[in-house]
Amino acid sequence: MDGFFITTPIYYLNGKPHIGHAYTTVAADAAARWSRLSGRPTRFLTGTDEHGQKVMAAAQARGLTPKAHCDELAASFQAMMTGLGVSYDRFLRTTDPDHEAVVTATLQILHDKGLLYRATYEGWYHLSDEVFVTDKEVAEGKYEKEKLVRLTEDNWWFKMGRYQQALLDHIAANPDFIRPGMRRNEVLGFLRKPLNDLCISRPRARMSWGIPLPFDADFVTYVWFDALLNYLTGVGWHPTSPSEGWDQWWPAAFQLLGKDILTTHAVYWTTMLLALQEACPAATRPALPRVLFAHGWWTMHGEKMSKSKGNTIDVEGLIEAFGRDATRYFLLREIAFGSDGTFSYEAFLTRYNADLANDLGNLAHRGLSMTANWLGGVVPDRGAWGPPEEALVERARATVAAFAEQMDRMAPQAALEAVNELIRAGNKYVDTEAPWAVNKRGDVPRLQAVQRATLEVFALAAALLLPIMPTKAAELGAKVGLDEAALARLARGPGDLAGLVAGTPVTLGEPLFPRHREMPASLIPAPEPEPAPMSEPTNLIVYEDFAKIQLRTGKVLEAIRHPDADKLLVLKVDVGEAAPRQIVAGIANKFAPEQLVGRTVVVVVNLAPRKLRGLESQGMLLAAGGDKGVIELATVPECPPGEVVR
Ligand code: MSP
Repeated sequence: MDGFFITTPIYYLNGKPHIGHAYTTVAADAAARWSRLSGRPTRFLTGTDEHGQKVMAAAQARGLTPKAHCDELAASFQAMMTGLGVSYDRFLRTTDPDHEAVVTATLQILHDKGLLYRATYEGWYHLSDEVFVTDKEVAEGKYEKEKLVRLTEDNWWFKMGRYQQALLDHIAANPDFIRPGMRRNEVLGFLRKPLNDLCISRPRARMSWGIPLPFDADFVTYVWFDALLNYLTGVGWHPTSPSEGWDQWWPAAFQLLGKDILTTHAVYWTTMLLALQEACPAATRPALPRVLFAHGWWTMHGEKMSKSKGNTIDVEGLIEAFGRDATRYFLLREIAFGSDGTFSYEAFLTRYNADLANDLGNLAHRGLSMTANWLGGVVPDRGAWGPPEEALVERARATVAAFAEQMDRMAPQAALEAVNELIRAGNKYVDTEAPWAVNKRGDVPRLQAVQRATLEVFALAAALLLPIMPTKAAELGAKVGLDEAALARLARGPGDLAGLVAGTPVTLGEPLFPRHREMPASLIPAPEPEPAPMSEPTNLIVYEDFAKIQLRTGKVLEAIRHPDADKLLVLKVDVGEAAPRQIVAGIANKFAPEQLVGRTVVVVVNLAPRKLRGLESQGMLLAAGGDKGVIELATVPECPPGEVVR
């Protein structure tokens, strides 16, 4: 049987993981678990992207070597995944030796085939995105001017442009290659312009944290070229000496990604694969992945949640308060895979209470407690099973079919909606059949049928929830005597409500999803204190006191988040001295790092240096805002750096 291989992007190690990373990973995990339930050989790959400018800068800011920095952060991504019960088969780090070997061998084989060349580039370069930008893109205003620098530089290039037509043909022949459809259209739009070649190196003198080019010691590999190859390393591929069985996994069934990295996958990655088809011996020619699925973003107050904006949700906090499975459930149930969604704690609470505490909790309680009270606490016979139960069977069959169809097409939200409907239908059935009334009139065969049908619906719901909420689903199943293997059979079965064994004891136990009336205080941001009225200044100083403070204009050259403090940014500021100063500023709540680069600010330059959360700050920026937080920075836009301010 062909294997099912699914991947997530590999995550940059320039900060701690957040819910955006959790999202893609949980979606892939649910798909992998769903595939495994059918007995299909399944492989699930995730990991971390460790080379390049961003990671190097983050490491430098912490005074660590890139490797030491990555070791620490890779562990925090692994911990996030463990916390969420993610069942990856490999966590690949781009610093792993087998990956470095694959990148080196791939570069060599493409070089030998004449698909790489060295040439001088003259043009715009975007510092934080690490991409070359055309004059046209600059003219169209696609990039913020402050982050662009003019560069003349020798580099190695991949002949990407020559695969433009082949890529278009592939997209045309495979309508599901890029999903959802709107993303496919985006890529087609992008490919309407001539496709340029891709710069795949960075001069070692400028950026040394990368895999060396095997044929030119002056360069390291461009981080995206290195990172994308992880998908092949992850199955044991190598252009000349692959592991046996790599082609059981490749091509991937699904490659999941956020919409932010659509072009790098749909264009860079696929043309890299097309080039490898040309350069590799027959045995290692990689096909194109079956589906590239670009999902949407979680936003917060209308903005993409991201490390650089500092508006992220703490995954650990959610897990602690609601459990891993409820967190997984919310992420996959709340928004359609492919669309954007707004994260709010209110929405989390509402969803949790409505679907899990109420609907599922009710069904469990009614099935289990009435069976315990009136039928000796064991799964009853089918008794006087009749038309209402048969109608429920029809419903269950339709649910199982819909669930499978939606999971297979990577639509977990719709799959879960089908389960919700089944649960609601089960509750409605109990309302209508009123087992309490049946019990009162002493009709045991009917009572058996009603309780059995209710428990069967409950068991089937638990089975279908297995890929989404693995721990809780197993616990739910155990309440009616089903182990995971039995649940898996049910999930993949016809849905005929015949999964339970009469006579098996049932256990009510504690509710698995207790109702939460409000969000735990730890997750709610503290309210802003009332601003105190401005008082007259009291402690007057003379001019000589003021003159002790030396102020100078400074241009912000770089800005990144402090790796260990949410409120701090670490800036490199040119104040007209031989080297820029490092300034640590408590302004991350107000500004994203990229908003600061290029601004000319006012710096106190004779403040004694001090360490803020482990990083030395060599000065201070002036800002308006006082105790209630920064409102705006003092800036002098037209002024060169290093001017005295009085
Ligand atoms: N390292 C590259 C990917 C290389 S893949 C060969 C990268 N890393 S990243 O850390 O920035 O993570 C990108 C992925 O994280 C996104 O594509 C998406 O899958 C996920 N998300 C990050 N923020 C997100 C949201 N706010 N919402 C949803 N997912 C997001 O790009």
